Amino acid sequence: MHIVATPRGDESRTLQISEAFLDVFIRTHPDWVVELLDLTKEILPSLTMKRVDGKYVLLDGRELYGDLKDAWLEIIAHIERFNSADAYLLSTPMWNFSIPYFLKHYIDIIVQPKYLFRYTSSGVQGLVKGKKMMVIMSRGGDYSIPASGFTGDFQQPYLRTIFGFVGLTDVNFIIAQPMDIDSETQKAKLAQAKKDAIAAAENFI
Ligand SMILES: Cc1cc2nc3c(=O)[nH]c(=O)nc-3n(C[C@H](O)[C@H](O)[C@H](O)COP(=O)(O)O)c2cc1C
Repeated sequence: MHIVATPRGDESRTLQISEAFLDVFIRTHPDWVVELLDLTKEILPSLTMKRVDGKYVLLDGRELYGDLKDAWLEIIAHIERFNSADAYLLSTPMWNFSIPYFLKHYIDIIVQPKYLFRYTSSGVQGLVKGKKMMVIMSRGGDYSIPASGFTGDFQQPYLRTIFGFVGLTDVNFIIAQPMDIDSETQKAKLAQAKKDAIAAAENFI
C-alpha cells in the first residue's frame, strides 16, 4: 500500500523519490499489486464525541454496541484496508516539524485498541505483525546536522514510535534534506535520495 501525505502531485519532491522506488519495486516484484491511498484526497471520518467514545469502549475490553457500531463503520473499513496490505510505502513531507495533518488524522483513525494494539498485563502489544514499511520523507531544512539550527525533528521519531507501537518495527527511512535552502543542494540531495530508493526497492521484500 502506498500511503501519500503530500498534496503536491507532480511538484512533490517526496513523490519523485517514491516513484523511483516504485518503478524498481514493480519491475522486480511483478506478482505484487500496489494500492494507492492518497490521504489528501480521502474524506476521513471526523473524530466526534461518539466515535471517540467507541475507543474507550474498546479500551475497556467491551464490544462496540448499538449506534456506536454504525458510527465506527468507516473507521473499521479504514482499519481493514490498512490491515489488508502486506507492506507499506509512506510518502510524507515534514510540515511544521512533524507530519501533515491528513496523515495525523489517518493515524488517529486507524490506531485503535483491539484492532492495531492491545494493552496486556505485561505492557502494550502491537497487532500488526511481520510487515515492512518504507518511509520516504523530504524536508525544507536539514535536520541531520544539529549545528544547522534545525533541531526540531518530530517527524521521524514520531513515525518510528507510532508504527512501532502497533507492531511495525521493521521500518526504513529515506530522507531528502535540505530541499528549500539552495537549488544546487536540493538537486544533489534529491538525486542521492532517488539512488537510495532505487537501491532499497529490489530487496525491500
Ligand atoms: C505547510 C508546510 C509546512 C512546512 N514545514 C516545514 C518544517 O517545519 N520544516 C522543514 O524543514 N520544512 C518544512 N516545509 C517544507 C517541506 O517539508 C519541503 O518543501 C518538502 O520537500 C515538501 O515535500 P513535497 O514536495 O513532497 O510536498 C513545510 C512545507 C509546508 C507546505
